[in-house]
Amino acid sequence: MTTNSPQLPLRRGEVIPALHEAKAQAFLTTALPNVRYLTNFTGSNGALLLTEDRALLFTDPRYATQAPQESDCEVKVAKGPLLKEVAKWIKRLQLKSLAFEQNRISFEDYGQLKEHAKNLRLKPLNGLVETLRAVKSEAEIAAIRNSVQLNSTALEQSLRRFKPSMTEIDLAAEIDYRMRRLGAEGPAFETIVASGKRSALPHARPTEARIQTDELLLIDMGAIVAGYASDMTRAHAVGKLDTKRQRMYRAVLESQLAALEAIKPGVTCANVDRVARDVLRGFGLDKLFVHSTGHGLGLEIHERPRVGRKDKTKLVTGMVITVEPGVYEEGFGGVRIEDTVVVTASGCEVLTPTKKELLTL
Ligand code: GLY
Ligand code: MN
Ligand code: MN
Repeated sequence: MTTNSPQLPLRRGEVIPALHEAKAQAFLTTALPNVRYLTNFTGSNGALLLTEDRALLFTDPRYATQAPQESDCEVKVAKGPLLKEVAKWIKRLQLKSLAFEQNRISFEDYGQLKEHAKNLRLKPLNGLVETLRAVKSEAEIAAIRNSVQLNSTALEQSLRRFKPSMTEIDLAAEIDYRMRRLGAEGPAFETIVASGKRSALPHARPTEARIQTDELLLIDMGAIVAGYASDMTRAHAVGKLDTKRQRMYRAVLESQLAALEAIKPGVTCANVDRVARDVLRGFGLDKLFVHSTGHGLGLEIHERPRVGRKDKTKLVTGMVITVEPGVYEEGFGGVRIEDTVVVTASGCEVLTPTKKELLTL
């Protein structure tokens, strides 16, 4: 399995028309996933200043060698705060207006701009690069496919080592270890292992509690492979489940399958969400579905679009999203089933290979 970074589309040219619209001469991003997307630079400190004809990548001396190797931008190595150096270049290029990411820039970086680039007209933009990122290139889809495959292999290997006497932390640690051994950079988020009543916490932290028998066991895990995230949830039966828990599982599975069936280009995210909720309503369980049906993923674990009640975004071929309805009854238990899928011309392809029939451990 290759873990090389994919060749990113570097869609810098597509940022420029938005600049014209915002009446700005340049664009600044300090959000690392956006910097990476537009430059290929993978370091942990960077900023990109984009004008109609120049792309300046700012970083610190730790990345003086790496940045020009990874990126085709003009690299500027700053000794002090990056934004101070950015401001210097804004003056040197005689820029009078700058579009910045209001949802991403830190208060401190904003302050640096205000202080060191006086008289610069600052134009707030929201989600410009994130909107481009929502539709993946072939190379990105291949990277996510690798990540999803590795994630499923890590689950399979971990479950082979499962013993009912394990604690939630033991199993989560095994999962993280298997991911790393298989070539992941690490987990995409803190691995969730939640047993029994704790499975009713949608984002439970693993604890020292021993995994209980005749109970549900919920595992939500994702890997980062070559920069790209995967995300999968499976609920398992440890021993025998009573009929109420089995019904909960069946309801969530039917909801998940119906939502998958609803996905195709042109359908809104809100519509997919509604389909998932409607099935749960049929079981009288919709009130226990307390989050949205899914989300985009890529360089970040949560990206656009949000597959929720209010997101009117129409699905487009090449979007990669999760489908993850869940039902959570406090003090009892919960079930969530989550796959990563890519929207295709005729529907969607489920990338996650892990089976969805209730698995008994
Ligand atoms: N584990 C994060 C999510 O499923 O969204
Ligand atoms: Mn998810
Ligand atoms: Mn998840």
